[in-house]
Amino acid sequence: MAKTKTAFFCQNCGTQYAKWVGQCSACKEWNTIVEEVVQKEDKRSWKASSVSDKKANKPLRVSEITHESELRLDTKDQEFNRVLGGGLVPGSLTLLGGEPGIGKSTLLLQIALKLPFKTLYVSGEESQRQIKMRADRIQPNSENCYILTETKTQNIFQQIASLEPDLVVIDSIQTLHTDYIESAAGSISQIRECAAELIKFAKESHTPVILVGHITKDGTIAGPKILEHMVDTVLQFEGDRNYVYRILRSLKNRFGSTAELGIYEMQGSGLREVNNPSEVLISKNEEDLSGTAIAATVEGMRPLLIEIQALVSTAVYGTPQRSATGFNAKRLNMLLAVLEKRAGFKLAAKDVFLNITGGISVDDPAIDLAVMAAILSSNADIPIEKGLCFAAEVGLAGEIRPVQRVDQRILEAEKLGFTTIYVSKSNKIGLKNTAIQIQKVSKIEDVVSLLF
Ligand code: TYD
Ligand code: MG
Repeated sequence: MAKTKTAFFCQNCGTQYAKWVGQCSACKEWNTIVEEVVQKEDKRSWKASSVSDKKANKPLRVSEITHESELRLDTKDQEFNRVLGGGLVPGSLTLLGGEPGIGKSTLLLQIALKLPFKTLYVSGEESQRQIKMRADRIQPNSENCYILTETKTQNIFQQIASLEPDLVVIDSIQTLHTDYIESAAGSISQIRECAAELIKFAKESHTPVILVGHITKDGTIAGPKILEHMVDTVLQFEGDRNYVYRILRSLKNRFGSTAELGIYEMQGSGLREVNNPSEVLISKNEEDLSGTAIAATVEGMRPLLIEIQALVSTAVYGTPQRSATGFNAKRLNMLLAVLEKRAGFKLAAKDVFLNITGGISVDDPAIDLAVMAAILSSNADIPIEKGLCFAAEVGLAGEIRPVQRVDQRILEAEKLGFTTIYVSKSNKIGLKNTAIQIQKVSKIEDVVSLLF
């Protein structure tokens, strides 16, 4: 009998080693190297074998290929469709990653329950009764959604063959195992092999498959990077678990743009699609409060108006505290230094707390000016006039810098009833006859004198 061949794999990044080592030289993680059985490699030549394969694909001219782009399955979920680029493509593999408890299972079950065609939801994590309880919370009485609790791929394919579903959801890829590989479920080679089997199934049967993937501490999808290369689309579900808003992004999409964004709100009865995110992210306070400013940002392709809150108070301890939620703390420090130098504010003896409401985090530099305005407003305890919003970056010299897609931001602000938007003087604006007043500023000093 031939000796089984084994190799050592890093469980974190998938790097292969010939012998065991304590630390992975690729990702620098300790104790992640595990021995796994590998398949014997075929030493056959690349040249065609003597027997011709009748089914093999032949090359075609581009003009001869039939166009099938309109063939997309509508998932009945506008946000999900948008992120996918218009719906699920038959035979495609989609990987949905996200932190535990963020709502991946809820999202996919909800989509499966809404679909008008046969869906098989395979769960390796929860029992059928648990899923039933969840389904009851979301939407009872769906005749098209079948639940299977199984982790062995061979058994799953057997059920698929008899059920013939139009969509297969696997929750999650880390729980699957195949008989052809001996290592434990969740190991690199199991994940790779199970994914390969599912890809083969999807491509041959033209059935779309959605996989749930767990993510590791540092936010990458657990398992080999190769998994992300194998699938067609990689989606990420993110948000702060303590808040209700969730953002669905696409990190890779072979059938559409990766700049699209879906926004959901987690409710007692599942996830609600948020079609007008700006309206929900801005609190509707009747009174004017100091320390809040509205920024017109763009997330992916979507314009989004968000509320920034700042609190400036006298430092109690020797070193002033700086804390930012949803905003880069280093950038906050930089903006404070600019304020100190250019606008003459003595912020060194003040604690500064910054928060972006709704629990979302933003890295669009176009919110700089709104952050500064919120800080200045809290410092002076003077509210910023209602109907004002900001869309500009601030440079180290206190100059107001132009931002991308300014027209889109202006239009969104106008749609939501804002009366004035502050933008950089050097921003080229293509819009004409806007109802909203466009206030052009070039220095932070100008902004201070206009606002206070
Ligand atoms: P879940 O979908 O199990 O997360 P994941 O699969 O990503 O680990 O999400 C569970 C969380 O969502 C849990 O904390 C409860 C909450 N939830 C609601 O708030 N409303 C609902 O209708 C459902 C089904 C879950
Ligand atoms: Mg889950």
